[in-house]
Amino acid sequence: MATVPANIPYDDRDGFIWMDGKTVPWREAKVHFLTHALHYGSGVFEGIRAYNGKPFKLREHCERLIEGCKIMDMACPYAADDIAAACLETLRVNNVVNGYIRPLAWRGAEQMGVAAQQTKTHVGVAAWEWGNYFAGDAQDKGIALQTSRWRRPPPDAAPVHAKACGLYMICTLSKHAAEKAGFTDALMLDYRGRVAELTGANFFMVVNGELHTPEADCFLNGITRRTVMELARENGLKVVERAILPEELKTAQECFATGTAAEITPIGRIDGISYAVGPVTRLLRDAYGKRVRA
Ligand SMILES: Cc1ncc(COP(=O)(O)O)c(C=O)c1O
Repeated sequence: MATVPANIPYDDRDGFIWMDGKTVPWREAKVHFLTHALHYGSGVFEGIRAYNGKPFKLREHCERLIEGCKIMDMACPYAADDIAAACLETLRVNNVVNGYIRPLAWRGAEQMGVAAQQTKTHVGVAAWEWGNYFAGDAQDKGIALQTSRWRRPPPDAAPVHAKACGLYMICTLSKHAAEKAGFTDALMLDYRGRVAELTGANFFMVVNGELHTPEADCFLNGITRRTVMELARENGLKVVERAILPEELKTAQECFATGTAAEITPIGRIDGISYAVGPVTRLLRDAYGKRVRA
């Protein structure tokens, strides 16, 4: 499958989407207007990258989807293995080699209203050929982040450890505000005012040769985040998970973002502070590139 230009709507492409156990033509993969998830945000999703036809950490992503369903009180009719098989099948039928896989579990239209015990959990998987998440010279110069006015909620105010659809409304608002102001993405603080993460990626900074990252106690503990910490330790770097305050950002020599979509992307600027794309970022980016293709 060739990469489809970004201006082609996602509902008007060639290919096939796996939905509830069947592979359906791409344009026919539809849901009803009264789908619960559409009204109340009752969905959980995943993002997985495939490199040379092989999805990276497929099993972990599928397990996280199942765990997300549990957190959202959604009875998923499939096991992690079934979803993994659906992902591989979706890659195969669409002939995707280096691309992205998007599984989604959502409450259907069987019941309408806040209570939704009678809804079924539906599952779909799409896949498409995909390049870099951040366009242009992001890898050479780094992306520019604007601190968002929206904060990540506390763990007793939202299901913060699930990759739940509803949590992304503040991410979209933050990213829109950042782009409107000429930045690439937003840096989100948490409810305590500490540095949390980006709108779709985790945050790292390098301080005097050590790798520092916020504790993932109110946001997604990314699979890439954990892979990068492992790679850092393998390369003899000290990794520190701790509370990071925004005023400490000026003490960092390098900053970068991690995520399945973002991979490892250097951060060139946060509000008024500039960073160079430094040796630790380059080392980990290379190591990550090798690991995902191993
Ligand atoms: C809000 C948010 N944080 C962090 C991440 C990074 O998670 P992962 O590395 O598992 O893709 C993502 C991407 O999925 C995300 O959407």
